[in-house]
Amino acid sequence: MDVTGRLLAAALLILASAAADPGDEKCLTDLSESLQDPLRNLKNWTKETFANPCQGFTSFLQGATCNNGRIYKLSLTNLSLRGTISPFLSNCTNLQALDLSSNQISGQIPPDLQNLVNLAVLNLSSNRISGSIPPQLALCTYLNVIDLHDNRISGEIPQQLGFLVRLSVFDVSNNRLSGPIPPSLGNRSGSLSQFNASSFDGNRDLYGYPLPPIKSRGLSVMTIVGIGLGSGLVSLILSFTAVCIWLKISEQKQDEEESKVGQLMPEY
Ligand SMILES: *[C@@H]1O[C@H](CO)[C@@H](O)[C@H](O)[C@H]1NC(C)=O
Ligand SMILES: *[C@@H]1O[C@H](CO)[C@@H](O)[C@H](O)[C@H]1NC(C)=O
Ligand SMILES: *[C@@H]1O[C@H](CO)[C@@H](O)[C@H](O)[C@H]1NC(C)=O
Ligand SMILES: *[C@@H]1O[C@H](CO)[C@@H](O)[C@H](O)[C@H]1NC(C)=O
Ligand SMILES: *[C@@H]1O[C@H](CO)[C@@H](O)[C@H](O)[C@H]1NC(C)=O
Ligand SMILES: *[C@@H]1O[C@H](CO)[C@@H](O)[C@H](O)[C@H]1NC(C)=O
Repeated sequence: MDVTGRLLAAALLILASAAADPGDEKCLTDLSESLQDPLRNLKNWTKETFANPCQGFTSFLQGATCNNGRIYKLSLTNLSLRGTISPFLSNCTNLQALDLSSNQISGQIPPDLQNLVNLAVLNLSSNRISGSIPPQLALCTYLNVIDLHDNRISGEIPQQLGFLVRLSVFDVSNNRLSGPIPPSLGNRSGSLSQFNASSFDGNRDLYGYPLPPIKSRGLSVMTIVGIGLGSGLVSLILSFTAVCIWLKISEQKQDEEESKVGQLMPEY
């Protein structure tokens, strides 16, 4: 290698090891503050690493994947994490996948995630997330996975999410959602991926296609038959018990009567 080559290599090295993107640093610093890690499962989640989490495609941060020196994926699943999702996650502007599934994370989904214009995968399933689904997520046009199942999310499903043409997985089952399923998600047209009832199951007050129609407000046939059989059995047992008690009482009365009669009779 000649002098120029060496100089070039040195220059490249300096460029490569330059400080992290300030957005990534802000994003990681704030995320580490908003999340709680009671079991200390996150390795290398320190201020020093946030200042330089990536070198090219190498990551020094547990759960992070790097691409050209930027955070590209964050996957922190099943680590007993608590706390909330920092709105400054949106400063990780190159983020393509965010997977915080299977923890005990609470709080709301920050609408600020709308700034993650490269986001393709959002998996926040099996946590304790509450609040409603921010309609702003529809601005992340590359989203193809939204998995929010098993949380405590309430409110209506924003119909804007139906505008996400790349969406191929949508799962909001087992939450506290209510209102109608927007046809833009429940009955998608043309070549768009369809979502069946399993995407929407387990939300008590959510209704509409593709969920089965709500049973008539009255009682179903099986319930009526069940109640009929059950109450029949109960009344049978009750009347049997009543008859037994009545027999017992009258037997006692008879005994008493007999003994009274016995007392009145003079003894010979
Ligand atoms: C973080 O994002 C906010 C909102 O987009 C922006 O105003 C701020 O300048 C960003 N901070 C850094 C350090 O990139
Ligand atoms: C933690 O960071 C150090 C240096 O920054 C690195 O050598 C090590 O591989 C990292 N550990 C993990 C688990 O990424
Ligand atoms: C989650 O983590 C616990 C404890 O580390 C482990 O026992 C369990 O198998 C993990 N579950 C999954 C689905 O990876
Ligand atoms: C989301 O994460 C859960 C738990 O880690 C996993 O079982 C599920 O398959 C993921 N969803 C998608 C669409 O990959
Ligand atoms: C689904 O959409 C099609 C076309 O827009 C419509 O004809 C059909 O009635 C819809 N199905 C349901 C169950 O709403
Ligand atoms: C519903 O969709 C899911 C995921 O796309 C699939 O695994 C499942 O088999 C489908 N269920 C039915 C009844 O079609």
